[in-house]
Amino acid sequence: MVLLLISLLVFIRYAAANNPSKAIRTFHAMDRFKIIPDTEAFFILLRALCKHGNIEEAEEFMLINRKVFPLETEGFNIILNGWCNISVDVVEAKRVWRGMSNNCVTPNATSYTCMISCFSKDGNLFDSLRLYDEMKKRGWIPGLEVYNSLINVLTRENCLKEALHVIDKIKETGLRPDSSTYNAIILPLCEAHKLVEARNVWANMVREGLKPTITTYHAFIGGMNVEGTLEMLSQMREAHCGPNSHTYLLVLNKFFKLGQPGNALKMWLEIEKYELLPDSAHYAALIQGLAACGWLMKAREFYAEMRSRGFLDDPELEKLLREPLVGNKCHKGGPLQNGNEDIRIPCTKGHIRGRKVFRPMKR
Ligand SMILES: *[C@@H]1O[C@H](CO)[C@@H](O)[C@H](O)[C@H]1NC(C)=O
Ligand SMILES: *[C@@H]1O[C@H](CO)[C@@H](O)[C@H](O)[C@H]1NC(C)=O
Repeated sequence: MVLLLISLLVFIRYAAANNPSKAIRTFHAMDRFKIIPDTEAFFILLRALCKHGNIEEAEEFMLINRKVFPLETEGFNIILNGWCNISVDVVEAKRVWRGMSNNCVTPNATSYTCMISCFSKDGNLFDSLRLYDEMKKRGWIPGLEVYNSLINVLTRENCLKEALHVIDKIKETGLRPDSSTYNAIILPLCEAHKLVEARNVWANMVREGLKPTITTYHAFIGGMNVEGTLEMLSQMREAHCGPNSHTYLLVLNKFFKLGQPGNALKMWLEIEKYELLPDSAHYAALIQGLAACGWLMKAREFYAEMRSRGFLDDPELEKLLREPLVGNKCHKGGPLQNGNEDIRIPCTKGHIRGRKVFRPMKR
């Protein structure tokens, strides 16, 4: 019996991924096997539906079954987490939040944490702070995630001093800021091209004994020129924190967006230098970028190279090479303006302990 119950639950999880109505039917069918689905199974189904993006179905299912499974905080929190964390939609989250009070379900610390994170992601400083106050007034203790949300939205709204003050506040409450706390400041600063401030925060982070994460490095790389990018890549290697395949995609796309195909090509050589075998996504980014910048010959060369390395034909790329859409990704500049940027590759070739990452060829 237990085994049957477990296999039904496993099935429900899988079905929720592709076929929510099938998952829901299975849940009801548990009755026929003389298994009365309990609250735990009910929540498992709600979570599975949300996790796979079927948040509306989850909510509807929760409301339809309110006679058997009375509405309570846990169910609403699952739906809230869906709208706040899985697919961020502040309008839906506010509607569910109102639904809680309309149904006399009391939000708890988890519900507040979700809503504050949603407002923060939406850049809504006022409502983030309002809910933070309300949460404390109702006797709930904010956790690190709440503070990180506040720090993020404060920084994005140009209140850096206040954001730094929240870090002190975290320590006062006995919590420990972690890398995600510092990333909550560094990421928006880098996005706003405030690299000096971002570097200061980075220095504080290291002083606190915290390690930058790959997300921290990626944030900095986003705003850096060729030299800065190379320096950052070498720091990553030294710290044994990447660079990974996503790093290189980021770097390639960045230089194409800046209209600097020459620099993108230099980065390509970096990838090969460290023997990270480019995968099909890297080739696609390179070829599309080159074509969009009008470097068609180069794009074709790399397409040929890609094919010779055993990657499959890509009809989209082939079409692009036949009839390029210039101006797609390449915003400014062209081949002529990019020939003379002086890049100095630091003489670090000897002492970089490059992590060798081999990836199998896609067939
Ligand atoms: C909020 O309530 C739900 C359901 O009762 C519970 O599972 C969760 O742990 C609560 N959150 C906090 C932070 O107490
Ligand atoms: C959001 O999702 C992350 C990762 O899945 C999780 O660690 C975090 O606790 C979630 N936040 C909330 C408010 O539920």
